[in-house]
Amino acid sequence: MLLRCRTPTRRPFEFCLKRSYSAIEQRRQQAYQGGGKDKQDSQHNKGKLTARERLSLLLDTNSFREYDCFVEHQCHDFGMQDKKYAGDGVVTGHGTIHGRRVFVYSQDFTVLGGSLSKSNAQKILKVMDQAMTVRAPVIGLQDSGGARIQEGVDSLAGYADIFQKNVLASGVVPQLSLIMGPCAGGAVYSPALTDFTMMVRNTSHMFVTGPDVVRVVTNEDISQELLGGAKTHTTKSGVAHNDYANDIEALQGMRDLFDYLPLHNQDTIPTLPCDDPIDRQDQALDSIIPSDPSTAYDMKEVVERIIDNHSFFEIAPKFAQNILVGFGRLGGQSVGIVANQPLISSGALDMDASVKAARFIRFCDAFNIPLVTMVDVPGFMPGTGQEHAGIIRHGAKLVYAYCEATVPKLTVITRKAYGGAYIVMSSKHLRGDYNVAWPSAEIAVMGAAGAADVVFRNHPDKKSMEQEYKDKFSTPLMAASRGYLDDIIQPRSTRTRLIEQLALLKTKSIQNPWKKHGSIPL
Ligand code: HXC
Repeated sequence: MLLRCRTPTRRPFEFCLKRSYSAIEQRRQQAYQGGGKDKQDSQHNKGKLTARERLSLLLDTNSFREYDCFVEHQCHDFGMQDKKYAGDGVVTGHGTIHGRRVFVYSQDFTVLGGSLSKSNAQKILKVMDQAMTVRAPVIGLQDSGGARIQEGVDSLAGYADIFQKNVLASGVVPQLSLIMGPCAGGAVYSPALTDFTMMVRNTSHMFVTGPDVVRVVTNEDISQELLGGAKTHTTKSGVAHNDYANDIEALQGMRDLFDYLPLHNQDTIPTLPCDDPIDRQDQALDSIIPSDPSTAYDMKEVVERIIDNHSFFEIAPKFAQNILVGFGRLGGQSVGIVANQPLISSGALDMDASVKAARFIRFCDAFNIPLVTMVDVPGFMPGTGQEHAGIIRHGAKLVYAYCEATVPKLTVITRKAYGGAYIVMSSKHLRGDYNVAWPSAEIAVMGAAGAADVVFRNHPDKKSMEQEYKDKFSTPLMAASRGYLDDIIQPRSTRTRLIEQLALLKTKSIQNPWKKHGSIPL
């Protein structure tokens, strides 16, 4: 660069240097302005932050190192040669969250609607490649009108390259998506291929085709918000996991989630100093199970009383609420928690619950995060609705995920564990490492009334047979007598027991037989 600095008269070397530096700095400043003040104002008026403001909240102060802020698109069609912006609509690089490395890209809606050009895609691919090289997670902040229309197939190729890289990175480094604006067309499939997707309420949308196309093709009249807003995707479709009121809360939520995750699939489990005593006994747990077996209680309260500082980071809290999944810490170490929720549908496993839990279990297993399963489940959900929509196929995903998982698996049965659902929920039979029950546990093929209807229906003393069945199985003793439970423990001691076993299982190492990959029932 300096060698090429030609001047008509001989000028001092320092002068050339300063001139080229000032041109560079000017271009860098242009990159910082994105699409300019008016566009940034319009972004703010919509209640959204700019791409750079978002990164400054996501990452530790002064930790962001940007790549490619001078990159421009190479399109010359449709007047695009006059619409060149330094950085081309996406800000990329790396930084830290609480001191731990992360690669990031943040789409800049102020530049051509954050649309994805070939050059812009190459910037994203560069950080994904580097994340794989040094083994660190990738967070994508999505705010884009999709494929840059003027570039045609070049922008589609850019998306294809990103999908391919998403899949190769899957299970190697965590990939996290935060939807902070429109996300339309094929663009939704990159977030969908990542591990966790968060949305901002009212300002972010995800759909394969927008309301206009829907109207033409299906004759439905629907708003963007109803079609693909945060509420739709976190309560109905399950496409997004968590939603937040605004950009600031969403970025903080992403930082919180990040703290639970290892940086890659061979990293150690994140462990924070723990100020919650390991031997803390929670007396309230001893009486949390109602005496009437058909009365519900809140399993989330049970989870929170057991884990460090009552702090549970729930994933998908509004979808398939009959099962809880999320992260917590035990003795400072991250664990993945899966728990039936008796408050909703008595905690029965339906299709959505099965898929929600299976996906979470597979994430934890891929990144070596131990699994703690809390069981109170009356069975799989009966009915034609579930059967005809494929509960067998979807329930099998949960069976598959638990069977496949080789991470430490710790299971606590608090009350009901009936039938197939007993087996599925991380039982001893599916390579559970530590399986215990509270004294209130009932482990049986089904509830006593249902059992009596089937096997004692013609018995002259059906009532007493039902009682006999109840006496025999409304206790964990039979399962314990066969070694299917390692112990029956006092509820108050659950936290201590789990932490002890986690320490024991730190050196656990088992492997499944070699295969190209399994064939999970999709
Ligand atoms: C080029 C785009 C663009 C795009 C928006 N812009 N989307 N430029 N390609 N895909 C530009 C607009 O022309 C405008 O430029 C600026 O961004 C802001 O857009 P507005 O429309 O003014 O903003 P807003 O009203 O907020 O609407 C946002 C929007 C809308 C809902 C995203 O722009 C829109 O519907 N865009 C098209 C969405 C789409 O169909 N994308 C293609 C999806 S198909 P100026 O210069 O006026 O400021 C796809 C295929 C991927 O992505 C396949 C992968 C396999």
